[in-house]
Amino acid sequence: MSKFEILINKENRIDEEFYKKFKLIEIKNFENETIKIEKRTYKEFLKFKKEVFKKENLEINILNSFRDFKEQEKICKEYVEFYGENLAYKLAAIPGTSEHHTGLAIDITVKKDDGKFAESNDELYAEDKKFLIIHKYLSKYGFILRYPSDKTEITKYNYEPWHIRYIGKNIAKKCFEKNICLEEYYNKYLAKI
Ligand code: DAL
Ligand code: ZN
Repeated sequence: MSKFEILINKENRIDEEFYKKFKLIEIKNFENETIKIEKRTYKEFLKFKKEVFKKENLEINILNSFRDFKEQEKICKEYVEFYGENLAYKLAAIPGTSEHHTGLAIDITVKKDDGKFAESNDELYAEDKKFLIIHKYLSKYGFILRYPSDKTEITKYNYEPWHIRYIGKNIAKKCFEKNICLEEYYNKYLAKI
């Protein structure tokens, strides 16, 4: 199994040494801040972004990608304060269990009708119609929508139209064609790690 195909979720915590296997590069996010992302993930993202713009006239960008354990801890704390514990952990992964530690996950945004990029979760959910169009192009570039709306019972996370995960074209296409999430793919086709 390629390192890109790793399953990371609440039950599959990966240690910090494994995360170091991914080659991270520095890029600019939607507001020109320097962030880190896995190299191949970024290369495929750029192609994906280009096609979505060409075919659908929708402009997408990157909110964030790589996060270390400390940054993830900070998000969890903020979410617990804001949403309460129950909802917080349906939105944010506890440190060590987030795909963001690899740089293979990207939180994407889309340009709103007012010309600005959606930022907050509320703004992002409000652009769901655009996201649904965008999602159709993911698998061609090796991405999956990691937390689909009809799989929340299985992923144990709320629907996140913005969170995409690079996994490689083979698995991405299978998940898309069969309408299965990554947990279902693993249960069906691979031994659990
Ligand atoms: N929002 C996803 C679940 C994360 O925090 O990794
Ligand atoms: Zn995310």
